[in-house]
Amino acid sequence: MAKQRMDKIIASQGAYSRSEVKELVKKGRVLVNGKAVADSAFKADPETDSITVNGKAFGYSEHIYIMLNKPQGVVSASRSPGDKTVIDLVPPTLKRNGLFPAGRLDKDTTGFVLITDDGDFAHEILSPKKHIEKTYVAVLDRPISEAEQKKFESGVALADGYECLPAKIRNLSEDGRTVEIKLNEGKYHQIKRMAAACGSHVNELHRVAIGNLMLDESLLPGECRALTDEELRLIQEK
Ligand code: URA
Repeated sequence: MAKQRMDKIIASQGAYSRSEVKELVKKGRVLVNGKAVADSAFKADPETDSITVNGKAFGYSEHIYIMLNKPQGVVSASRSPGDKTVIDLVPPTLKRNGLFPAGRLDKDTTGFVLITDDGDFAHEILSPKKHIEKTYVAVLDRPISEAEQKKFESGVALADGYECLPAKIRNLSEDGRTVEIKLNEGKYHQIKRMAAACGSHVNELHRVAIGNLMLDESLLPGECRALTDEELRLIQEK
């Protein structure tokens, strides 16, 4: 990786602003390969140089990937005046410039939202061509019939004429109202519109997985954490 200024490198990881880095440098609290740097414009390679900030080894990663358990009432956008957004729920320790949700859930839908600053990765997991399944649990207002399940599996035609890709659907409850649905695409209000095309209404919707990565159910609604490399791999695994 090309060398970059220390203030840029350190501020890019979220915990300190550029002016805080300047202060730390002044106090001799930023070391590169064991030596205090004299100027925040000093250049280093964050991937190969050993950097210490305020007494702690500085872990650098070019991008960040965050799993959020989205609560109801929060908007899947980077900015939405008057509303709380998924980015507002990211704590300062994980905040970086350029964070956005890779895929949207409706305001009243809950569950797994992936937040990142990596546009290429977001494209990978959202493109229907890449076949990264998104798994939802939906509670319907009435039991789903076998004929309707078959419709989901062969491709529901929405009211506007759009033919959905085949989806997988599995009944999870005795009353037939709670179902698991797996989609390879993410059209606006897709599951609600698929259900509506079958004469049903979705009362509750929760996303439980992206690819082979399940939502960590120990995250309470509104909580988030960074993904591990292994978890990132599970998202993309075929
Ligand atoms: N389908 C919907 O209708 N809403 C969502 O939030 C996600 C999938």
